[in-house]
Amino acid sequence: MSLRPEAEAHLPGARIVIVGAGWIGAEVAASARERGANVTLDDPLPVPLQRVLGPAVGAVYRDLHREHGVDLRLGLGVEGFEGRGTVERVRLADGTAVEADLVVVGIGVTPRVELAEQAGLDVDGGIVVDERLETSAPGIFAAGDVARHRHPQFGPLRIEHWANAQNQGLAAGRAMLGNAEPYDRIPYFFSDQYDVGMEYSGHANGDDEVVFRGDPKSREFIAFWVRDERVVAGMNVGVWDVTEPIQALVRSGATIDRGRLGDPDQPLDELVPAEDAPRPQRMRMMKQAFGAPKRFVGDRLAMRQAGGLDTLHPGHGAIIDVDGQKVAAYRDEGGQVHAVSPICTHLRCVVGWNGAEKSWDCPCHGSRFDIDGSVLRGPAKKDLEVTVLTLPGQAPPEAA
Ligand SMILES: Cc1cc2nc3c(=O)[nH]c(=O)nc-3n(C[C@H](O)[C@H](O)[C@H](O)COP(=O)(O)OP(=O)(O)OC[C@H]3O[C@@H](n4cnc5c(N)ncnc54)[C@H](O)[C@@H]3O)c2cc1C
Ligand code: FES
Repeated sequence: MSLRPEAEAHLPGARIVIVGAGWIGAEVAASARERGANVTLDDPLPVPLQRVLGPAVGAVYRDLHREHGVDLRLGLGVEGFEGRGTVERVRLADGTAVEADLVVVGIGVTPRVELAEQAGLDVDGGIVVDERLETSAPGIFAAGDVARHRHPQFGPLRIEHWANAQNQGLAAGRAMLGNAEPYDRIPYFFSDQYDVGMEYSGHANGDDEVVFRGDPKSREFIAFWVRDERVVAGMNVGVWDVTEPIQALVRSGATIDRGRLGDPDQPLDELVPAEDAPRPQRMRMMKQAFGAPKRFVGDRLAMRQAGGLDTLHPGHGAIIDVDGQKVAAYRDEGGQVHAVSPICTHLRCVVGWNGAEKSWDCPCHGSRFDIDGSVLRGPAKKDLEVTVLTLPGQAPPEAA
């Protein structure tokens, strides 16, 4: 999470009380602690993120924040804010008061549906849309946070995540042009807190049964949520390139064997029954259409047609092949080659060249790196690794 520089300067030593330990509260807590603020995180539920993740997985985040020095006040609601002219303390349900220089309230949002209501559209905690994102009024579509979409697999869902807003927007556009396909993407989002990254695919309730693959204490594990003997969601923490099989498993609706599901030695792909496994053609289509969440680094690098260094003109960048290894290379106007790893340091997508900005941009969550790999924009925090190339006296090609 980035802040305006003037706000950033006030953070070290500041006393911040965060009300609500959902995604916003938990991420703000992590960012503020990393910047040296004293953070109190308050929630009426016993663990952070309980509503989505449930008590067992929420406990992983409780321990993570505690280890990083967050003062957790869980199981306690807020009674009120006190101070003269500005907030000075937060009064909790047990009568205690927490001194505060700043209070962040992250307790959820309410969609703005007034316009839809006035227009006579069906509204039920969001603008009601069918499988194709069309509202109750033919020709009017809704997408993103505001839409209560009838998902073919999960039923009515209103999702507040960036990938959903982006993908539904595109799908609504296609539906307006007559596309009859339902919008059936598996919901997806990611979260980074301290050095722990995760991706979540599917849709579960906090009270669904959880099966762990790997030890949650190691912070490298997959949690599966199981309902009616089927996987309805999976979350990979510190384990990468598994989004596709997790989503295939959720999509398949296959009855699962808990033992195999929780066994890290059982390949995830093999848990999807053959009759439900995506067929090669469908798999290819999914790969092309998946965009952000599909991050099969090996596959995507292998699929990329990469030329050699001799194809790189001054002022241009490309993923190129050097002795069988793919690198993100830029040749400057003086002919010098700047080579870095093409794997984004956030969640390991493959970056692409942005000729307009002369940068390496990650298509997954928007990280941007300069030609020498330095982070220009997050969520990535670490620079791309510099690759040292031994150039066999190769002359740069003439400018195109
Ligand atoms: C602090 C914060 C952090 C977040 N972090 C993450 C994250 O890390 N990962 C993630 O996946 N998601 C995150 N989200 C959620 C994500 O930002 C939203 O899911 C996404 O922005 C939704 O996009 P949208 O276009 O549907 O809605 P919005 O981005 O809310 O856009 C709706 C727009 O419609 C306008 N509008 C409202 N009413 C009217 C009207 N009557 N007429 C015209 N315009 C109107 C609004 O002003 C607004 O500009 C975060 C959200 C917040 C608030
Ligand atoms: S993988 Fe998330 S921005 Fe690159």
